[in-house]
Amino acid sequence: MSTTELKEAIRKMAREKNAVIMAHYYVDGHVQDIADFIGDSLALAQQAAKTDADIIVLCGVHFMGETAAILCPDKKVLVPDSSATCSLAESCPADEFAKFVAQHPGHTVISYVNTTAATKAVTDIVVTSSNARQIVESLPKDTPIIFGPDQNLGNYINAITGRQMVLWNGACHVHARFSVEKILALKAEYPNAKVLVHPECKGTVVKLADNVGSTAGLLKFAIEDEATEFIVATESGILHEMQKKAPQKTFIPAPPDEALVETPEEKRSCACNECEYMKLVTLEKVYRCLRDEQPVVTVDSEIAAKAIKPIERMLELSK
Ligand code: 13P
Ligand code: SF4
Repeated sequence: MSTTELKEAIRKMAREKNAVIMAHYYVDGHVQDIADFIGDSLALAQQAAKTDADIIVLCGVHFMGETAAILCPDKKVLVPDSSATCSLAESCPADEFAKFVAQHPGHTVISYVNTTAATKAVTDIVVTSSNARQIVESLPKDTPIIFGPDQNLGNYINAITGRQMVLWNGACHVHARFSVEKILALKAEYPNAKVLVHPECKGTVVKLADNVGSTAGLLKFAIEDEATEFIVATESGILHEMQKKAPQKTFIPAPPDEALVETPEEKRSCACNECEYMKLVTLEKVYRCLRDEQPVVTVDSEIAAKAIKPIERMLELSK
């Protein structure tokens, strides 16, 4: 099948099966093109919570599928590739996080949405990069808080809110490796370009930003701001939607520090600001998963019963 035929076949099947296709901004552009809904982590969770489709195809990484499955226990949630994990979620195993929580009695536990369901089960409130500030600030100033797993996001929220949250030492390998020197070199080449930075990046990169935000926040800024050139320090999949929404503007992906690029595949591809887990989601896999209605995301019922509370608290606080 050609790409166009594949896209048409997926859309036809989605209609026939009353399936909704949701995609994160980091997946392949072709997959974004066939989605009913594209969004950041918060928007995907909000959308899943209110859909009336029978099937949700979550084109993203596994924790996103889990969040949808927890919110919609009566629906079939499919992910095109169940091996699409997340280095940040993996950096926070639930049993170790539970021990960390136990070492800090009396703390409110805030977890970034990029966690497994089991880690969410030992959490009081889930946040995303869109609402982390708002949710932290909704708590009284003297509330002791544990924040995990992203240390860069935690440091950023501490800096802008004046809190001193206790941080888990986790990171996203894609965001942690942007190079300050290379961004500065790009700024010299494009003096009018504004720098857009996701808060999962290191503090030294955040300092260079004209705008810090979630993927949806950066996209909004890029569309609305008067600048016409942007250096983008987040996973490069977002450039697809930026270019689509603002075709007259120029978007330059910020390069990583090559010394921090680890695998031979990444070294060969030079597409080092890509998340290899997000890029596992291809059109072919979306087609197969919708046709075969698998892999289905399942979450242990005891874990789901605990994990839904901090997710619902987040949705409530984000209204
Ligand atoms: P947001 O889309 O919520 O900004 O999340 C970024 C991310 O790393 C998702 O894996
Ligand atoms: Fe996880 Fe980073 Fe990939 Fe997002 S970009 S899914 S945080 S590894």
